[in-house]
Amino acid sequence: MTRKPLMAGTWKMNKTIGEAVVLAQDISNNYDDRWKDNVDVVVCPPYVDLKPVKTVFEFDRVPVGIGAQNVYWEDAGAYTGEISVPMLTEIGCEWCIVGHSERRGLFGETNEDVNKKVKALIAAKINPIVCVGESLAVRDGGTTLEFVCAQVKAAFAGIDANLAANAVVAYEPIWAIGTGRTATPEQAQEVCKAIRETLAELFGAAVADEMRVLYGGSMNPGNVDLLVAEADIDGGLIGGAALKADSFIQLVNVCL
Ligand code: 13P
Repeated sequence: MTRKPLMAGTWKMNKTIGEAVVLAQDISNNYDDRWKDNVDVVVCPPYVDLKPVKTVFEFDRVPVGIGAQNVYWEDAGAYTGEISVPMLTEIGCEWCIVGHSERRGLFGETNEDVNKKVKALIAAKINPIVCVGESLAVRDGGTTLEFVCAQVKAAFAGIDANLAANAVVAYEPIWAIGTGRTATPEQAQEVCKAIRETLAELFGAAVADEMRVLYGGSMNPGNVDLLVAEADIDGGLIGGAALKADSFIQLVNVCL
């Protein structure tokens, strides 16, 4: 099975609407016709930028998807400050990051929260990008694989195999995020392979073989080749290097 690579840029809490439109336009201007068949390209701007960014890509008719960085699992109601799945659907959002380590660490998101969000997204046919990854303390303690695979099992608990194939897992070691310290291709492959084995336990080998597992953490044009060359790494979830069109485009074009 050859999985189509996915390159997803997350802008985190960066880019006002004006700045977001400029960046989206810059990406659109550099769109390469070969992307369509060879790589799925997605950007995940802040909520308020989603619609303006989508409009740029729609107007230019370029197949770049948009994703949110978070969502709440209830459809509507008294949940001050939250954004629901139907709201994302109406904007034309096809993707949503869930369980990013910054949300887990800074905003108290639990494995149970992640599971509720994944279920709500899958029910609405928005593809979750589920982030998992260990701290330096866990890595140094030698329990990385157990820790990460437990996160994967918790995120997908109670989800049917026939609904899981479009979900994506992003392995993002916390110690590599925004630090310039990337996991080596061997380290990243070891964990991504264990993730795929866990997905096979949950959903069977055929579904696990279809699901994409990404690496994230200081991915940049200098280290991307060796990472995406690994058998179980199907693309990247990119932070800092996705904030400029030229570096993001270089990362995408590696998949051509
Ligand atoms: P950096 O690429 O800036 O390390 O961020 C990775 C990340 O957290 C993507 O979700």
